[in-house]
Amino acid sequence: MEKLELLIVSVLATWVLISGVEAYRVGVGRADVTGPPVEIHFMGYANLKQVGRGLHLRQFARSFVVEDDNQRRVVFCTVDAGMMGYAVKREVIKRLQQRYGPIYNDENVVISGTHTHSGVGGFLMHLLYDISILGFVPQTFEALAQGIYLSIKRANDNLTPGKIFLSKTSVLNVNINRSPTSYLRNPEEERAQYEHDVDKTLTQLRFVDLENNLLGAFNWYAVHPVSMNNTNKLVSSDNVGYAELLLEKEYNTNKVPGKGKFVGAFCSSNLGDVSPNIMGPKCSISGNDCDLLSSKCPAKEGECFASGPGHDMFESTKIIGTRLAEAALRLLNENSEESNYREITGEVAYIHQFVDMPNYNGSSYNPLSRKLDIIRGCHPAMGYSFAAGTTDGPGAFNFEQGTITDNAMWNAVRDFIVPPTQEDISCHAPKPILLATGRATFPYEWQPKIIPTQILKIGDLIIAAVPGEFTTMAGRRLRNKLAAVAVAAGGRDTEVILAGLSNIYTSYVTTPEEYQAQRYEAASTIFGPNTHSIYMDVYEGLTKAMIRGEKVNPGPSPPYMNDRMLSMNTGVIFDGHPIGKDFGYVKLQPNNEYKINDTVKVTFIAGNPRNNIFHEKTYFVIERKINEERWKVAYTDASWETKFIWERTHLILGFSDVHIHWTINTNTLPGEYRVRHFGNYKYILGGIFPYEGISQSFIVKED
Ligand SMILES: *[C@@H]1O[C@H](CO)[C@@H](O)[C@H](O)[C@H]1NC(C)=O
Ligand SMILES: *[C@@H]1O[C@H](CO)[C@@H](O)[C@H](O)[C@H]1NC(C)=O
Ligand SMILES: *[C@@H]1O[C@H](CO)[C@@H](O)[C@H](O)[C@H]1NC(C)=O
Repeated sequence: MEKLELLIVSVLATWVLISGVEAYRVGVGRADVTGPPVEIHFMGYANLKQVGRGLHLRQFARSFVVEDDNQRRVVFCTVDAGMMGYAVKREVIKRLQQRYGPIYNDENVVISGTHTHSGVGGFLMHLLYDISILGFVPQTFEALAQGIYLSIKRANDNLTPGKIFLSKTSVLNVNINRSPTSYLRNPEEERAQYEHDVDKTLTQLRFVDLENNLLGAFNWYAVHPVSMNNTNKLVSSDNVGYAELLLEKEYNTNKVPGKGKFVGAFCSSNLGDVSPNIMGPKCSISGNDCDLLSSKCPAKEGECFASGPGHDMFESTKIIGTRLAEAALRLLNENSEESNYREITGEVAYIHQFVDMPNYNGSSYNPLSRKLDIIRGCHPAMGYSFAAGTTDGPGAFNFEQGTITDNAMWNAVRDFIVPPTQEDISCHAPKPILLATGRATFPYEWQPKIIPTQILKIGDLIIAAVPGEFTTMAGRRLRNKLAAVAVAAGGRDTEVILAGLSNIYTSYVTTPEEYQAQRYEAASTIFGPNTHSIYMDVYEGLTKAMIRGEKVNPGPSPPYMNDRMLSMNTGVIFDGHPIGKDFGYVKLQPNNEYKINDTVKVTFIAGNPRNNIFHEKTYFVIERKINEERWKVAYTDASWETKFIWERTHLILGFSDVHIHWTINTNTLPGEYRVRHFGNYKYILGGIFPYEGISQSFIVKED
C-alpha cells in the first residue's frame, strides 16, 4: 500500500515537472488611456461631425503578463481604442525597456484595440487614418502610450505564481453579419460546417493565484463596438467597454470604475463583418428593409443604417454589454464539473515578423483557382465601396456598397491626389480604386506597407495577433489552419484565439471569395485579393517555426514618421469666465430632492477639459454624505450613470460651461448627495491652474 502511494506521488511529481503545471507566474494590470474628451474627432466612423463634447465612459488599457519556468514571458494588452498603431507600440516598448531592460520587446508584447468607435482619434501615423481627425494629436498619442505602458507595468509588478484556465460559451443574441451577401460567396461546403454567419463563441482566459483567488479574466468575442452610433459625441468604450465595467464591478466590490485589483477585459477578434445592431439595417424614414446588395434605400425613404436592440444607442450599448458580461460571469461562476474548463499547461513561446506586404512573393493555396498559386500583395488602395461606409455608419457621399464599376468624376478627384498605376489597377481587380494610398507619399505614408505579424503561445493556447479586421470566415480559416499546423507539429488539442486590430492598423481582411463582392469590407482590404492568402501563408510559417523553436528573419522595420506629423488641431488658447463668476461657480444648482429615474443636472463655469485629462482621476465626483465630517465618492466620470458635457459659451472670451448629469437608478442608496467638479483653466497670460466647484447638497429619496 505504502509503496503504491509513493509511486503515485512520484509519478504525479514527475508529471508536474514535465507538463509545467503550476509553473506559471501571472500578473494583470489596468490603466486609464482616455484621450482629450473635447474638440478632437473620434476614431472609427470617419465622420467629420463627430467631435468630442465630453465623456460618458473612460477608456482603459488592460494587460496580462505570463511567464513560464524558463523565464519566457509574453504580454497581451487590450485597449479601449479604435485600433492599435505601430508608433504607439514602439513608444510603449521604449518606455518598458527604459524601466525593465530588453525583457519586453516587439516580439513578446501584443497590443490589440477593442475597436470602439467612440474613442479619441489622432494617434495613428498614417495620413488616411488621421484625415478625419484633422491630423495627428500628440495628447491622444501620449495618453495611450503612457496608459498602455502603465497597465503592463502594473501586470509586471503583480506577477505571482498562478494558473490559467480556458473556457468557452456561446452568446447568441448580440451580433449579426452586416455583409451577409458577401459571406454567401464563400463555398457552400465550408459554410455548411457552421450554424451561423458570425461567430457566437465567447472564449475566456481566467487567471488565478495558487490559492485559487481570481486575478483576472480576458474574454474574446467577435463584435464591432458600434452600439454607440456616429451621432455620439461623448467618449465611450461602447458595448465591450460597458461589459468590462460590469465584470470588474462584480469582483471589485465598492470600487468606482477603473479601480480595484481584478481586471476584466473584452478583446476584439474576427469582427470585420460583425455588427451589434441586431435589429438589422432599415431605411431611416420608411422603416423598410434596405437593398441587400448595395445597402441603399429608395429615394425619400431615408438613410440605411442598423440599430437596436434598445430604443436609443445608450440602451443598445447597455443591453449588448450586459449580455456579454453575463456570459463571462457565467463562465466564472460555474463550477468546473459542469463546464468545459481546461487548464492551460506547457511552455510559453512567441514569434514575430515584419512583412513587406506589397512586395510579398510567396505561394499559397488560392481558393478561387483551387490550386497552389504564386501570390503577390498589392500597393495599398481603397475601393469605391469604402466611401459608402457600412450599415453601422453610412458614408458621406452617394457611394454604394458592392461597387465594381468606377466613374469619371471620382476618378478625376482620385487622380488629382495620386493616380494608381496600371499595375495597381490590375492587382486590385475587381476593386475599382478610389484612393491609391500606397502611391501617395505626401506628406508621409497614407497606409502601412510593412506590417508586424505575431503569435504568442502559452502551452496549448495560441494567440494570433493580426493587424486588421478579419471577417468571420477569414478568421475561421486562419484559426483552423493554425490549429491543424500546431497539432501536426506535435501539439496537443491546440486552441487558437484570433486577436484583432493588433500592433498596427491595415483596415479589413476578407476571404478572396468575399473580396469579389466588393462590399465595404472588401473595398477596405488594402493589399488586394491575396491579402488573406498572404496572412494564411505567413501565420502558418510562423506557427511552424515557433513550435520547432526556429528563428525567422525579422523582416524590414516600418518607417519612423514621428517627426513628420501634420496637425490642424489647435491647442487651448486661453480660458475666461464672466465677471464675478469664477471658474467652478455653480451656474445651475440641483433641485432639493430627486427620486429613482430622475436625472440630476448641475452646470459649472469651467475651463477647457483639455488643460488636464485627469488620468486615473475624474472631472467630477458625486458624493454621498456619511456623517457631518465625511462624504464618500459614489460615482465618477467613468460611471455608466453619469455624463460629462462641455459647452463653449463664448468663443472670443474663452468662456465655457460643463454640464454634469447623473441618472438615479434602483441601485442608488437614498441619502444626501452633492456634485464636485475639478478642472484646470489656462490663464490668458500663460500657465494652467486648478479650480474646483461644489454644488449645494440634495436628497435622493427612498423609493
Ligand atoms: C443614432 O442613434 C440615435 C438614438 O440614440 C438615433 O436617433 C439616430 O437616428 C441614430 N443615427 C444613426 C446614423 O445611426
Ligand atoms: C519572387 O520569387 C521568385 C521565386 O522565388 C523569384 O524568381 C522572383 O524574382 C521573385 N520576385 C520578386 C519581385 O521578388
Ligand atoms: C424606472 O424606469 C424603468 C425603465 O424605464 C421602469 O421600468 C421603472 O418602473 C421605473 N421606476 C420607477 C420607480 O419609476
